[in-house]
Amino acid sequence: DAVAQLAVAGVALHPDWLVEGRDAADLRGSEPPARPRWSVTGRAVLTADGEPLPGGLAPARRVPPTSADHAGIPTWPTAGQPVALGQHTALGQHAAGGQPVGPGQLATAGRAAGEPTRETLVGHFLTTARDMLAAQRDVLLSYLGAPTTPTVPVAVGVGAAAPAAVQPVVPVTGPPAGTVSAASDGVTSGGDGRPDAADGLRDVGDVVPGAGTGGGRAAVDVGAVVLDLIAGNTGYPTEMIEPDLDLETDLSVNSIKRTEIAGLLTQRLNLTDALGPRAVEELSRLRTVRTITTWLTERTAGSGPATPATPSAPSTFPAPPTATAPPTATAPPTATAPPTATAPPTATAPVTLVGPGEPGARGGGRAPTRFVLTTVPAPLIAGTADLTGTADLTGTIDLTGTAWTVFGDVTAHDVADPVAGRLADLGATVTARTAAELAEAPPQRLDGLVYLCGWGRAEGEPELPETFAAIRAALQAGPRWVLAVSALAAADPAGSTGPGPALPTERAAGLRGLFRTLAREYPDRLVRLVELDDAASAADILAAELGRSTATGAVAVHRGGTRHGEQLTAMPVGPLAAAGAGPAADGAAEAEALGLDRDAVILLVGGARGITAGFTTLLAGAARCRLELAGRTAPPAAEDPRTAGIADRAGLIQAVRELGHRTPGEARRAVAAILARREIAATLADVAARGGQARYRQLDVLDADAVAQAVKQVFARHGRLDGVVYSAGVIEDALVADKDPQSFRRVFDTKVAGARALLAALAELPVQPRFLTFFGSIAGVLGNRGQGDYAAANDALETLGAAWARRRDTRTITVHWGPWAPSAAHPGMVDPGLEAEFARRGVDLIDPDEGHLCLLRELAWGPRDAHAVVYSASGW
Ligand SMILES: NC(=O)c1ccc[n+]([C@@H]2O[C@H](COP(=O)([O-])OP(=O)(O)OC[C@H]3O[C@@H](n4cnc5c(N)ncnc54)[C@H](OP(=O)(O)O)[C@@H]3O)[C@@H](O)[C@H]2O)c1
Repeated sequence: DAVAQLAVAGVALHPDWLVEGRDAADLRGSEPPARPRWSVTGRAVLTADGEPLPGGLAPARRVPPTSADHAGIPTWPTAGQPVALGQHTALGQHAAGGQPVGPGQLATAGRAAGEPTRETLVGHFLTTARDMLAAQRDVLLSYLGAPTTPTVPVAVGVGAAAPAAVQPVVPVTGPPAGTVSAASDGVTSGGDGRPDAADGLRDVGDVVPGAGTGGGRAAVDVGAVVLDLIAGNTGYPTEMIEPDLDLETDLSVNSIKRTEIAGLLTQRLNLTDALGPRAVEELSRLRTVRTITTWLTERTAGSGPATPATPSAPSTFPAPPTATAPPTATAPPTATAPPTATAPPTATAPVTLVGPGEPGARGGGRAPTRFVLTTVPAPLIAGTADLTGTADLTGTIDLTGTAWTVFGDVTAHDVADPVAGRLADLGATVTARTAAELAEAPPQRLDGLVYLCGWGRAEGEPELPETFAAIRAALQAGPRWVLAVSALAAADPAGSTGPGPALPTERAAGLRGLFRTLAREYPDRLVRLVELDDAASAADILAAELGRSTATGAVAVHRGGTRHGEQLTAMPVGPLAAAGAGPAADGAAEAEALGLDRDAVILLVGGARGITAGFTTLLAGAARCRLELAGRTAPPAAEDPRTAGIADRAGLIQAVRELGHRTPGEARRAVAAILARREIAATLADVAARGGQARYRQLDVLDADAVAQAVKQVFARHGRLDGVVYSAGVIEDALVADKDPQSFRRVFDTKVAGARALLAALAELPVQPRFLTFFGSIAGVLGNRGQGDYAAANDALETLGAAWARRRDTRTITVHWGPWAPSAAHPGMVDPGLEAEFARRGVDLIDPDEGHLCLLRELAWGPRDAHAVVYSASGW
């Protein structure tokens, strides 16, 4: 540099000596080197002419304003001046007249001279992003030796491929008489005027909010909309859904799904505002297409431009053969006003799970975060949500004139007598009943209910599902206090409950899940499960709990003289369990850590279908071990050629009807059986392709003898059993108020009676498996509207598993899953309707691959004494 500066300054220099004796050449007489063909900078690859490579990524350039952007205003910014991206954020900050405007007004008011619109900028951003991805794809393809396809530039802009949110809404006015109106783009019709075949609940997002409050309405036949929505949500062809079929019994549309459909109907018909929030509830109680159509048609009479010409018209259905009046919606039972007390509401705000650094979304779901439910001190606060203003921490509350029922273990006198006595002392009229008596003859009037559970004996069969009928019957009498008092399980033979987690007795298994759900379904009542380690203090504690609501949920644990609430806490198990042992993510390292090799034997009950099938195939590839699968479905066999080639559900329904399954129920069952067997066959094929060995057997876990037999046979065949995964489960969702006790039993027993049969069978083996895993659900941990039975069942699994682990010193863990994203091969319980509902609620779903790996890592590297854990991709 110094020599060069001297030369430039005119100093006579003789630099030859600098290169003397070195390997140097004098270039003065030589040819200049060829210009480079490419120059590569940190930002772009350019040709010798400084142009981007043909088909390559174009460097950033200034966005020229279009004629649409100008709107008569010249130049933005000063020609030739580069624009930094940060400047865009300042756009629109000064409206005409110098008034500042917010960012939301960017595209409309106050655009400075020649500024591109927001849509134009977004369009350019999308084009560039797309080009960038295409370039990356080409690099990868070239690297992998595949031919690349040239990138064809695609203009992205408003009106072409712009995001749906900026699509203009074109109003259509003037509905003909006899129709009601819908948001103009609420119904996405195909050429035949029907919604797309599979739209169903998924069309929630298509409805333009508030579009109907203005004039944007188009004529819609109510009956056709009702029919289409039900068809879209059930998979039945519209012609099969006769107007008077019962949605629940004939078409298996349960009350939860009816509520979803009712919500969609009011949205589609743009009636949400006109009818108010109670309309959906009322509508969801109607059970035929005809009554729903009539109800909607009548309600829309006189609602602005949507008014049909006559209230009774129109219907797409012929009149029923016999003129039966459509059932009118019945109002929910109303509570008799109490003379002296009002119940405080129970806090049931949606639960947001906050975890550290959630991994990003992938495919149809996200990687889940690991949580553990712990108990934290949660003292009652004097005066909080006080019933009468007289309650205090000693339990002074005036219950004069209120009617109470104490039921359950009423012969456990050490608890029942003081509890009933204390309620009476506070002024209540108290009746003691057994569960059977209460179920058969619930009182006409009931202000408070106390269920004494698990006091007679701690071990043995859970009191649920038997006592559910009594709880439901009592709820129908409208009590405003709904309490259960149960005993905590002893952690050791001496009867101590601590240290370690506070667990219910096996008799009370499932009560936590049920009460968490009741608190969600009855938010205006005090719903609480009070668990105690000291029977002698039951009456005092109950009286203290009566008057107060806390934000710590429906379960109160009194242990060692301290009151606790529950808290779900993100608790990663360390880097290995969080991310695995290497980038392969094939589970091999985890399987090895778990001690699984080719000789290992794993029994997976429910392992051939749904979310467990993916875990089965992961094990097959990772450990190549021997897999014993079981489920109710008959083993796969050659399929009838008349259905074999049909993939879609509607086509299958049509085909099985032609095969003689005429009624909707028969057709639905026949199609479900075909799909189940195909799914099992696919799982077995996948296992084989990954080098594993699987055998499938038909087994109903409700048959305890068959379960014992199956476990015995598996052990006898292989001489070992290394691990067991129990994921059998069914759902039959309905609100507790509508829940048939037999249905509650089916859902509960599939999990709980099946698991108890499994544990009894394992107890007979000479060597215990190294691990046992129950598939539970987040619904059991947090409760879920419409899933009282399912929540109870999953919660009960945890209690049974923990008791088993304590008794047998065997590693047993219940994994409570959040909802999973359905995969095409193994959809599991999350059907399209449920998936749409989760999307509406903003609940993220678990990515199946990530979920399976999480389970394997939990088993490989998670703490051995963890009895339950929650994996969820989202809040609840
Ligand atoms: N999918 C989710 O988002 C999710 C979320 C949380 C928890 N879970 C839990 O994960 C487990 C699997 O659910 P999934 O979504 O995969 O549902 P799924 O596809 O319906 O699988 C349920 C499995 O249980 C079996 N099963 C049901 N009743 C049975 C019985 N009486 N005897 C023997 N096997 C029986 C089924 O086999 P057959 O049909 O052949 O009987 C099937 O293999 C369930 O326990 C569920 O509670 C799932």
